[in-house]
Amino acid sequence: MKRQKTWQTMIKKLDITGSDIDHKMIEIAKDNAIEAGLGDLVSWKQMQVSDLFIRSNNGYIISNPPYGQRIGDKDMVAEMYSDLGNIMKNHPSWSVYIITAFEAFEKEYGQKATKKRKLFNGFIQTNYFQYFGQKVREE
Ligand SMILES: C[S@@+](CC[C@H](N)C(=O)[O-])C[C@H]1O[C@@H](n2cnc3c(N)ncnc32)[C@H](O)[C@@H]1O
Repeated sequence: MKRQKTWQTMIKKLDITGSDIDHKMIEIAKDNAIEAGLGDLVSWKQMQVSDLFIRSNNGYIISNPPYGQRIGDKDMVAEMYSDLGNIMKNHPSWSVYIITAFEAFEKEYGQKATKKRKLFNGFIQTNYFQYFGQKVREE
């Protein structure tokens, strides 16, 4: 009985949010989560990257953002990556994982990745940029 109580106090509630600027994408992702049996685990938010507001420590961001491959998109995505980098530099305990084909991602984000791995997203050659957070102890 004592052991069970200890476990109950150790279990943290998962807080998973999926977001996109486009509400149609949210609907698609929601349906996918339901189909995968994860519908109850994820909350959804329509928002743009620059409105990201973080209130906790030790979180993770995993994103497949636009790559800026269409004409005229490059400046827009560069600005988005820069916004994300500016937000995340104030949250060093968070880990950030970004897949993108944008070669100068680290320059726009403002920081060299802890680890970088080449991989294909379908036929598109991308990099998987990994920034490992410096975890802080929580009570
Ligand atoms: C490459 S798609 C990825 C879609 C989906 N997340 C996936 O992985 O299959 C990029 C997504 O970024 C969204 N997006 C574009 N600009 C954004 C912004 N400023 N803030 C948040 N999401 C944005 C688009 O609506 C699009 O759904």
